[in-house]
Amino acid sequence: MEYRNLGSSGTKVSVIGLGTNNFGRRLNSSDTKKVIDTAIEEGINFLDTSNSYGDTLSEEYIGNAVKNYRHDIILATKVYSKLGDKPNDMGASKVHILREVENSLKRLQTDYIDLYQIHFWDNTTPIEETLRTLNYLIDSGKVRYIGCSNFAAWQLAMSQETANSLNLEKFITVQPEYSLLNREIEKELIPASEYYNVGILPYFPLASGVLTGKYKRGEDMPEGTRLSENKERADEILTSETYSLLERLEIFAKARNKTLLDLAFAWLLANPNVTSVIAGATKPEQVISNARTHTWKLTNTDVKEVNEILGDYK
Ligand SMILES: NC(=O)c1ccc[n+]([C@@H]2O[C@H](COP(=O)([O-])OP(=O)(O)OC[C@H]3O[C@@H](n4cnc5c(N)ncnc54)[C@H](OP(=O)(O)O)[C@@H]3O)[C@@H](O)[C@H]2O)c1
Repeated sequence: MEYRNLGSSGTKVSVIGLGTNNFGRRLNSSDTKKVIDTAIEEGINFLDTSNSYGDTLSEEYIGNAVKNYRHDIILATKVYSKLGDKPNDMGASKVHILREVENSLKRLQTDYIDLYQIHFWDNTTPIEETLRTLNYLIDSGKVRYIGCSNFAAWQLAMSQETANSLNLEKFITVQPEYSLLNREIEKELIPASEYYNVGILPYFPLASGVLTGKYKRGEDMPEGTRLSENKERADEILTSETYSLLERLEIFAKARNKTLLDLAFAWLLANPNVTSVIAGATKPEQVISNARTHTWKLTNTDVKEVNEILGDYK
């Protein structure tokens, strides 16, 4: 496995991470443990979850799975999502964050969170309040680093400038959707994250499994897969245009004795600002395949060629 610095920090995380939004939703506690144990055996040391995944069960199952090797992993979670019907049951306010951090620590069976991320921008809370609360959590030792997710470039810029001017801890990572099939962040967020030296943690890196190559034009979707169970998302993403693009990307990869899956990871990791690619997995063998993709390093010419294939597809 290869390791990179977690954003602007000195902490090292595996370039292939593990996403966990299947845990507690599609995987029970014992299957979750199998996936996590396999990830650790493959050298993966970075897990990304949220207080909302699997209706809070993702954190609970992770806590159970990692309790014997907690100090060997870098654990990221998030706060913001709606967890109840009362006015303070969501958001990035002081009240909500201070309550939720305790709940996450309990479920994760730990006394610290390595990376605590604001899941979404909160338009109803001053960013200063959020940052002061996060700063307090770092000072108190409950949280080691802070990050944000689904932030627009201006929201990231405003956060970093506010933290700078108040001498508060800054976000070291941002977590946006990013993959060969969604390059929206290239316009504004990537330049902003480079300027502020903030690491990128791409989510949906496999476009919900489409970039594994397992969905083929004209064939039934394999049973038990995410898209076979989510027709709406399947219709949205599995268009004729997408298939044409996948076929061309596959030809590019095959010519180099690689697969589409290898390319999905290698292309993201060709950007040095990408810290870790946090693909989700439902089976141990998926984690093994994903972890082993890191050996392919694209050259600048490869990246240029792939980008030409991608063209205007967004
Ligand atoms: N910040 C946010 O708002 C946000 C939003 C979404 C996700 N996330 C994070 O990002 C992570 C990654 O996103 P994601 O897991 O939803 O999507 P993804 O990485 O694009 O796709 C993961 C899915 O692809 C399939 N897969 C993975 N590896 C495979 C392999 N080697 N062979 C065949 N199939 C494979 C599995 O689904 P099946 O086996 O079921 O087909 C798996 O659940 C999440 O787990 C979560 O931690 C964050």
